[in-house]
Amino acid sequence: MSDAKLSTPHHPRPQWRSRMGFILAALGSAVGLGNIWRFSYLCYKNGGGAFLIPYLIALFVVGIPLMILELGIGHRMRGSSPMSLAKVDPRWEWCGWWAVICAMYGIMLYYSVVISWCMQYVFFSFDLSWGKDSNDFFFNQFLQISSGPLDFGNIRTPIIFSLVAVWFFSWIIVFFGVQKGVERANKIFMPLLFVLITVLVIWSVNLEGAGRGLAVYLKPDFSLLTDPQIWIDAFSQIFFTLSLAFGIMIAYASYLPRKVDIVKDALIISVGNCAFSFFAGFAVFGTLGYMATQTGQPVGDVVKESIGLAFVTYPQAISLMPAFAQVFGVVFFVSLVIAGLSSAVSLVEAFSSAVIDKFHYARGTVVSIVCITGFFGSIVFTANSGLFWIDIVDHFITHYGLVLIGLMECIVIGWIFKASKLRKHIDTASGKVLSGSWDVCIRFVTPLVLGMLLINDLNGELAKPYEGYPWMALLMIGRDWLMVALIVSLFIAMRPWKRALEESD
Ligand code: PHE
Repeated sequence: MSDAKLSTPHHPRPQWRSRMGFILAALGSAVGLGNIWRFSYLCYKNGGGAFLIPYLIALFVVGIPLMILELGIGHRMRGSSPMSLAKVDPRWEWCGWWAVICAMYGIMLYYSVVISWCMQYVFFSFDLSWGKDSNDFFFNQFLQISSGPLDFGNIRTPIIFSLVAVWFFSWIIVFFGVQKGVERANKIFMPLLFVLITVLVIWSVNLEGAGRGLAVYLKPDFSLLTDPQIWIDAFSQIFFTLSLAFGIMIAYASYLPRKVDIVKDALIISVGNCAFSFFAGFAVFGTLGYMATQTGQPVGDVVKESIGLAFVTYPQAISLMPAFAQVFGVVFFVSLVIAGLSSAVSLVEAFSSAVIDKFHYARGTVVSIVCITGFFGSIVFTANSGLFWIDIVDHFITHYGLVLIGLMECIVIGWIFKASKLRKHIDTASGKVLSGSWDVCIRFVTPLVLGMLLINDLNGELAKPYEGYPWMALLMIGRDWLMVALIVSLFIAMRPWKRALEESD
């Protein structure tokens, strides 16, 4: 560390009450909406079981090594993402801000809107409000979707009500702090989510024709593996699903006690999250098989697009249920709400923790301001054009922001701080020895893979506009979102630290 001075001791950093509490909170962040509909949809689109191959490779090549890195650096520096990077080299502090700003004022803004849709669908389930045509209901009646991203339209006030609820829950949980808020909430959320998903899985696989869906899920079509898109999808899904590169795992690890088995916890969180996705896939594909059987279609034809899986196909399938359709609907959408909220909390926490570290304002004030500004920001996505905006911002953040930040993390920690130095710290904390091949992963393999991903992605991007949207919309909404976040990050990074940075051990 170059210019750090020792500061006077200040109020101690919050700490998790128990190891289980930490693991559940990290799992709560990782397991989210993405595990239920995004993962299943990607499998569906990319050759069923064949997708599991690039997915597992991505998990082991970038997912787990980066999870170890994020937990390791957060634990070593005892700071949020900007603080940890600033302690390595102050010139890289901006990268930490970019991560947490993308998380909070990018992902969280639209993620909260999708959770609010799920909340409304819980109520719609009571009387199966979507009727016979769930597609028309979702796009034309519920969203009243406009003609394209540049046709902004009006704010949909009914969505605002549930949006207020999402922000209120996120606010109250983070407001109460690490132990009394985040840890306690996840200790309730995660077991509950597991029970609900288990109910759905058992229910779905016993439906008539479920086997047809499961055959699509589990029988791989290997010919698709030569398509670079399936690899790009797998790698970006791993980042998204493990909540990596957003500074979340760094912040969560900064609340750990000194002695902790970082490698084991990283494995539990990463593998646990992916196992959850795989498990939830049985509920989704079982239901798709049932639906295909009822409507006499091939399983491959029942889903049109990703968001449609949760809000169009599933509702339609629920309406076809022979018994207790309403209960099925409520269980499904409540699961989505819970999975979403536990991830939302982590997005707010990662950013708030960074602001508290840098400016030393009281937690309550920071969290309140963050949630109020966040709520107003998220209103943009409730307009008639909201779905298009969600799609574009999500695409740019998960395909570029994330990969770039991941790449920079590898460079800063692998090369500037030195992977071997962090590995020694991890060894001491864990009381075990982490293989030197981790260094190789962080310094060479992961950055190489990420670099290739970026180039491939850019290539595809320039060849044709994403989803056929007008270039103007892609540049103004997607690219500029990232750019503005970057400029703000540079600006905040130039501000002085309220208390001088100090090395933690
Ligand atoms: N991991 C969450 C999911 O799969 C999404 C998320 C991404 C949450 C990034 C926090 C940070 O849905």
